[in-house]
Amino acid sequence: MDVQTPPCNTTSENQCGVKSSSYALIIIPVLLAVSTVIVVALIVYSVCCKRQERAVTVVFNSDTSGKRVRSTGCGSVLVSTVSGPLGPWEIPEDCVLEELAFLHTGRYGPVCRSQLSAGQVTSAVVVKTLRDSTSQAEVKEFVNWARFHAVVSRHENLVQMLFCQTRHVPMYLVLEDVNPGNLLHFLWSLRNEDPGTPSQSQQFCEKSVYLLAKQVAAGLEYLHSEHRLVHGDVAARSVLIGAGLSVRVAGLGMAFEAWETGKVANRRAAEVPLKWQAPERITHLAMTTRSDVWSFGILLYELVTLGAPPYPGLEPLDVLPQIRSSYRMEKPESCGTPLYELMKCCWMLNSSDRPTFPAIIQLLQSYTDLADTKRLSSLESMNIFEYSKKAGVFP
Ligand SMILES: *[C@@H]1O[C@H](CO)[C@@H](O)[C@H](O)[C@H]1NC(C)=O
Repeated sequence: MDVQTPPCNTTSENQCGVKSSSYALIIIPVLLAVSTVIVVALIVYSVCCKRQERAVTVVFNSDTSGKRVRSTGCGSVLVSTVSGPLGPWEIPEDCVLEELAFLHTGRYGPVCRSQLSAGQVTSAVVVKTLRDSTSQAEVKEFVNWARFHAVVSRHENLVQMLFCQTRHVPMYLVLEDVNPGNLLHFLWSLRNEDPGTPSQSQQFCEKSVYLLAKQVAAGLEYLHSEHRLVHGDVAARSVLIGAGLSVRVAGLGMAFEAWETGKVANRRAAEVPLKWQAPERITHLAMTTRSDVWSFGILLYELVTLGAPPYPGLEPLDVLPQIRSSYRMEKPESCGTPLYELMKCCWMLNSSDRPTFPAIIQLLQSYTDLADTKRLSSLESMNIFEYSKKAGVFP
C-alpha cells in the first residue's frame, strides 16, 4: 500500500503557504494600487466629461431625455440622440416652406405667413421662428413651447401646431393658418360692410354669437379639465376665427407658462387689460377657471357688440370700484335676454356663484335655437386708437 506520507505535502503546503503568502504580499498591494489608479482615473474621467458636457450641452428635463443643445458659438444646434416626444412632430424632409412673408415679431422671434408644400399638397401656414441670437434658456423654452403644442393644444378649438423644427437651427413651429384670423378684427370688419353686399356679415347674427361662444367655451373647458390649466387672457383678441365660423383659441402664453413652471409670473398676469380681469384677479392675483369665466362674459359682450370696448364710459381704473358697488354693463341693444343673463352670471362678484364651463356650454346649447337671426350691425366704424384708449389695451 502506498501511503503517501504527507511530509512532502506538508512541506509543499508549507512551501505553498509561504509562497502564497509572499505572493499575497506582492499581489494585494499591486491590486490595491491598480484599483486605486482605476478609480482615480474613472473619477477624473467623469469629472472631465461632466465639465465638458456642461460647457457644450444643456440637457432638458427628464421627459425630453436624449435631446441636447450643443452650442456652436453662432447659434444652437439641437442634436437628437433618442427621438423624444417631439419626434413625430418634426417636419418631414419632403415638406418645403415657400413664400415666407413677415407678419410681426412674436415673443421668440419673427412670425411669418408661408405656404407649406408636401408633394402635390400646399397649405397656408404660420411659421413662428426662434430668433438667431438666443440664450440656452430661451432655446429650452422654445422647445418646450413646441412640446406644449404637441401635448396640450390638441383640441379642435385650440390653435394647432402642424410641425416643428427643433433639431437644428433655424428652429421654428409651423402652425395652421386660420383665416380671417383675429376675431376682434373680424368683428370690426363686419361693422364697415355695406348691408347690401351679400357676404359673411349677412349671416352674422346673435345665433352666430352662440355658435362662436360655445366653441370658445369648449376649448377653455378642455384646457381646464384635461390639463388643469387656466387661459388667463380670454378676450376676442385671443381668439382666431376660420372658415365657417370655426374657432381656435390662441393666446396660450400664460397657460404655457403655468404648464412649464407651475405658475404664472405676476408681472405677466398683470399685463392683461383691467377691463377683462375678474375682480379677485385685480385684487389678489387669483387666477382660476372662474376668473376665465368672468373674462368669457366680457368676450360675449365683445361678440354681440361687434368688438366694442367694454365699459366704454369708464376709465380702466374706475371699473373695479364700480363692479364692487354692483355696477354691471347694460344689455347691449342687439343682445337677447338669455345671453345677457349669462353675461351677468359670469360677472358674479363671488367666483363660486359663476357658472362652470360645462354649464355655460349647456346653456348656450339650449338657447341657440331661440337666438335672433337678424344680422348684427353697428353704425360706428372702429378706430384703433380710439379703441385702445377706451378698452385700456396698450399695444
Ligand atoms: C362665495 O360663495 C360661497 C358659496 O355660495 C360661500 O361659501 C363663500 O363664503 C362666498 N365667498 C364670499 C367671499 O362671499
